[in-house]
Amino acid sequence: MIGIIGAMDMEVDGLKEQMSSVDIQTVSGMDFYQGLLCGVPCVVARCGVGKVNAAMCAQTMALQYQTSVIVNTGVAGGIGKGVRVGDVVISSGLVEHDFDLTDLGEEKGLVSGIGQVVIPATPVLTELAAEKAKETYGGAIHVGIIATGDQFIGSSEKLQEIKRSFDAMACEMEGGAIAHVCYLNDIDFVVIRAISDNADEKADITFDQFAPIAAKKSTDLMMQLIPAINAQRGSF
Ligand code: ADE
Repeated sequence: MIGIIGAMDMEVDGLKEQMSSVDIQTVSGMDFYQGLLCGVPCVVARCGVGKVNAAMCAQTMALQYQTSVIVNTGVAGGIGKGVRVGDVVISSGLVEHDFDLTDLGEEKGLVSGIGQVVIPATPVLTELAAEKAKETYGGAIHVGIIATGDQFIGSSEKLQEIKRSFDAMACEMEGGAIAHVCYLNDIDFVVIRAISDNADEKADITFDQFAPIAAKKSTDLMMQLIPAINAQRGSF
């Protein structure tokens, strides 16, 4: 079973519409849509914004649906000059930029219990997503670190700090929590984020305008990726 998580309705509605043989179960206030997507057994959920919601959703998928793969799809703020609105960033790894034990002498972003700053995405899934994006995505494609925290980033100062600390290409609010849960449950994962804004002082306005367009671009890529993941099962 493949789990697909998006934070907002606009990030998963397009996928739910394409599902057949759907069975809906509500767990902890979250609706889980189990059925077939492109003929592949999947469970799709809108988790809500932020790390706790995302972690609850991924853990429920692990326990209730025995997902062997989880893909997080949606939008993100682009970091760095080369990452523009409409581009896609595919995760090589995730960081939790707000995990901060530096006053205890730890490296910034070090995740307690895991002992790593970067949680690597499953390499085969990253490669597969990049390959599918090259075939179909309308916009530049980047593979790199995605930074997650319980903050909407809308200031050059904050985004520069995230770039400096983690060399991240995008920032969002769920992927790192999903990576954390997948790591602890031994689930393969990748995060796919279309860029809706540049995480700077204009991010609020740009986000309002471009998030629905970016969310659809990520959804369209998911529709290409799901059958490809299914065809590669057993190789990761
Ligand atoms: N998701 C989309 N844009 C974002 C931003 N600028 N900060 C955090 N999450 C986002």
